[in-house]
Amino acid sequence: MRSGERIVILTGAGISAESGLETYRDGGGLWEKYDLMELATLEAFAARPDVVLDFYNMRRRAAEKAQPNAAHLALARLESAFDGQVDIITQNVDGLHEAAGSRNLWHMHGCLNQMRCMACGGVHDWAGNATRQDKCPTCGEIGRLRPHIVWFGEMPHHMPEIQMMLAQCDLFISIGTSGTVYPAAGFAAAVQEQGRAQTVELNLEPSQGNSPFDIQYYGPATEIVPHYVNQLLRSEREKHG
Ligand code: APR
Repeated sequence: MRSGERIVILTGAGISAESGLETYRDGGGLWEKYDLMELATLEAFAARPDVVLDFYNMRRRAAEKAQPNAAHLALARLESAFDGQVDIITQNVDGLHEAAGSRNLWHMHGCLNQMRCMACGGVHDWAGNATRQDKCPTCGEIGRLRPHIVWFGEMPHHMPEIQMMLAQCDLFISIGTSGTVYPAAGFAAAVQEQGRAQTVELNLEPSQGNSPFDIQYYGPATEIVPHYVNQLLRSEREKHG
């Protein structure tokens, strides 16, 4: 790759699995234990707000205890060492990429550590539990705060910026995602239709997307992601001296 080029990385729950956070569709994953229609839709929140708030309180507490793993750290190293732009588009709602030091980060499905006010739209960093008795720090309304999470049927965040990044990237790397939920599941095919970027999949097993990646490494993220990042940076050094 020439210097000044763009790497776009898409991550999913698999990159955080070895930090102890549950994935969604693996054996024992969240959607095997819970009914997503009862917990991850606006309708569910309207019908049973306390149940939904408790579900995200439980996940927020788990995420607060988790530590970034070697895969998160390798991506942060790539961002700082690569002579070009590295952006991470994450479907994950944990804060492990930030904790690892990544800065160019786009949470397309929201963040567990933020709450959004349905009265004024204010988004607030949030630690610990949230209840219906909490007051919006901006407008003071009580009982109007919801998890700043993109629920099924809602539009993911940052899509205009994401479309531009996919159109302009020279290397697209998909890590730890099953390729089952759109629009993220269509990103690899969109990049391939552009015909300019190389596409790479780093995953425990082949994802379900029907567009074959140019390069594929399979195994635990904490092994294959640092290995791939080292290989990429080494080839950069060899090319640019
Ligand atoms: N290392 C690498 N990959 C792993 C590991 C690991 N240790 N463990 C699991 N994986 C892979 C699985 O093989 C699977 O392909 O991570 C992927 C996890 O897939 P999902 O559980 O479907 O998670 P994800 O793709 O992020 O889900 C996408 O679906 O429910 C919605 O909004 C939610 O963001 C989520 C979206």
